[in-house]
Amino acid sequence: MKALVYHGPGQKAWEDVPDASIREPTDVVVKVDTTTICGTDLHILHGDVPAVTDGRILGHEAVGTVTEVGDAVKGFSVGDRVLVPAITKCGRCEYCQRSMPSHCQTVGGIGWIFGHLIDGTQAESVRVPYADTSLYAVPASVTNEQAIFLADSLPTGYEVGVLAGKVRPGDTVAVVGAGAVGLSAILTTGLWGASRVIAVDTNKFRLDKARDFGATDTVEAGDNTTADVLELTGGVGVDVSIEAVGYPETLLTTASLVRPGGTIANIGVHGVPVSLPMQDMWIQNVTLTMGLVDTVSIPTLLKMVASGRIPAEKMGTHSFTFAQMDEAYDVFSNAAENSALKVVITPS
Ligand SMILES: NC(=O)c1ccc[n+]([C@@H]2O[C@H](COP(=O)([O-])OP(=O)(O)OC[C@H]3O[C@@H](n4cnc5c(N)ncnc54)[C@H](O)[C@@H]3O)[C@@H](O)[C@H]2O)c1
Ligand SMILES: [Zn+2]
Ligand SMILES: [Zn+2]
Repeated sequence: MKALVYHGPGQKAWEDVPDASIREPTDVVVKVDTTTICGTDLHILHGDVPAVTDGRILGHEAVGTVTEVGDAVKGFSVGDRVLVPAITKCGRCEYCQRSMPSHCQTVGGIGWIFGHLIDGTQAESVRVPYADTSLYAVPASVTNEQAIFLADSLPTGYEVGVLAGKVRPGDTVAVVGAGAVGLSAILTTGLWGASRVIAVDTNKFRLDKARDFGATDTVEAGDNTTADVLELTGGVGVDVSIEAVGYPETLLTTASLVRPGGTIANIGVHGVPVSLPMQDMWIQNVTLTMGLVDTVSIPTLLKMVASGRIPAEKMGTHSFTFAQMDEAYDVFSNAAENSALKVVITPS
């Protein structure tokens, strides 16, 4: 079969590899019908994730069809249409039982293994360990182009942003960074009845998208971001302030927007230390949350996509075939210039 193989920083190739096959009785093999690229794949290609070594097939998001089933698998059969999420879970370890499979101890100490610790989903087929507890059947009314965004970005914005931030009816929410993850937070903030959602980004295309995804106000990030957001909230600050970029300055901005008693929910992946102004923050009774997505909200999100409450398909702006994998990476790497959000990649 063919797959996108990582060959060290800056190097990848769509090339022939051995077919994906069952290794454990709890595995299935899934023929990949739709996949996408995540910002994390770009981090890997920059060499930022040393656990990913030469020869690894990239990708941790897929929708596909089961083609082989291990002897111990009870819940899935050949022909089933399934969502392969970014997080794999054994279902039995302490973290899985606490609904925190992001830290599943059985699959490698961390739930994110595809395109990281084992071969991933940017391939014609993928071996899925712990299939019974990790895969989701896709309802007939949900298309592949909708389901693919439930593998990672939508649950991330929802769980690490909206749920961790404890958005409640009537709340005013700021979302700093309107990429796929920030937009997912914006899209799902309405489910908890936020009255105002203020999107902050440096990019005008992303701010336009934010309105389309449900933001009531937009602020172009710059020197006056904090003042602009405070003005929109009558000087009070927001109830929930969500960070979806991953830079020290954007976390500081996010923290500066919250009212006393509010919550700062950090989603961004940070590569360097951040100095928070604790001398100002300690007296504010604020909560700061952070974490890796668990993807445990997928069943909820699937129902809401199926019923039309969440228009997940809005996330896909560009489509490519497997043969155009390089082009897909080029467009996604320069997403802002290409007016791109997420790319949809299919066999043909
Ligand atoms: N915690 C998790 O489990 C988890 C999972 C997936 C992704 N992430 C992280 O979430 C973050 C967002 O992911 P994404 O895919 O949406 O990324 P993205 O690059 O598509 O979006 C980031 C957005 O931030 C904007 N931005 C850049 N600098 C800014 C600034 N100074 N002020 C305001 N906006 C600014 C960009 O214009 C862009 O729209 C990343 O750090 C990613 O690694 C975290
Ligand atoms: Zn990802
Ligand atoms: Zn586990």
